[in-house]
Amino acid sequence: MNSMLKKLFLTFTIPALVLTGCSSTRGDSQAADIEPAEADVITERPDDGRTVVGISMPDRILERWNRDGAYLKNQFQKAGCEVILSYANNLIDTQTDDLKAMIEDGADLLVVTAVDGAAISNVLEEAHRQGVRVIAYDRLIMGTDAVDYYVSFDNYKVGVLQAEYVIASLGLKASETPMNIEFVTGDPVDNNARFFYQGAMDTLSPYLESGKLNVPSTQREFYETSTAQWSTDIAQQRLQIILNSYYPEGMRLDAVLCANDSTALGATRALEADYLGLNKVVVTGQDADIANIYNILNGSQSMTVYKHLKQESIVTVSLGKDILAGNTPEYDLIEKSGWDFACSFNTTDYNNGNKVVPSYLLRPIAVSADNIEKELFETGYYNRNSSGLIFASKN
Ligand code: GAL
Repeated sequence: MNSMLKKLFLTFTIPALVLTGCSSTRGDSQAADIEPAEADVITERPDDGRTVVGISMPDRILERWNRDGAYLKNQFQKAGCEVILSYANNLIDTQTDDLKAMIEDGADLLVVTAVDGAAISNVLEEAHRQGVRVIAYDRLIMGTDAVDYYVSFDNYKVGVLQAEYVIASLGLKASETPMNIEFVTGDPVDNNARFFYQGAMDTLSPYLESGKLNVPSTQREFYETSTAQWSTDIAQQRLQIILNSYYPEGMRLDAVLCANDSTALGATRALEADYLGLNKVVVTGQDADIANIYNILNGSQSMTVYKHLKQESIVTVSLGKDILAGNTPEYDLIEKSGWDFACSFNTTDYNNGNKVVPSYLLRPIAVSADNIEKELFETGYYNRNSSGLIFASKN
């Protein structure tokens, strides 16, 4: 798994591309270039003089998608596109209806973060039949040819960073004393959750195998540790049951590896309520949600994996503009972008069951109390108002 994710680069000779604002040439150049499978046949899209981008986000309860939606909408509008932005309340049917409505409203491009990666292939195949292009945003769309590109962070690396933080904080390399850990992984219908899990498990496996790290609940498989809908309440309830079942007085818990911040919130609440030990339990997270930044500053959460959401939207908008200009971007998109941040082009690792989807991957960063000011506040990602309240910088 490790080596597969690190091989990243593809070099093709690509015709020089002209990229200016949000214009679209419909159907002609693509039909010539691509040998599509049946579902991928792209017919002429009637030219209505509009360039419409449909952005479908999973829900508003998880903090980050509100920001992703706002960043994407703002930047596509700045590029002269008409934008339809919708939130699906974590409901598959709602997302399917939202996507159908966007196609009917003349969308030329769909940017989609799937509620369930395997549940929207029909509507996307209809989109492709009508010449609409599809970018999977942050979460891979599974089981269909009707997805053109994937933009995300190196999801495997997220799990590696969380595990490395646990190993360093517990001093596992040098320690002779066995330690105890529990796992709170992500939503099983989110393809990312598996990458986070695998990155963490591959990194911890030497310690789990040697007995330096134990799991008193014995729950370490992906499904049995997963959290439907990344729900804070479900994560809290599950960990409270584990604490009350396996951690009587005197039984020490050293770490809880949580896949993201919404589950980490549940874990810290469970620890506050039901953990009898006096030691500080290491708790990981992901997304740098504001509520969790306060918890890292007050010490109840140890770290989070910061993903610069604005950069993810910048890559997506550049890619979207290039596709709408009738091009088939590859590594060249990075070369000509002038971005001041790292981004790689991957054509090997994100197989959605039908095809390997060409992917642009950004770099996640581990953030703890040690580097939080530098990474989140000095960069202006977050600011504080006069009474110290943290808020996100405008899009
Ligand atoms: C994942 C995403 C994470 C986290 C999680 C819960 O797909 O990559 O950043 O936000 O969903 O929303």
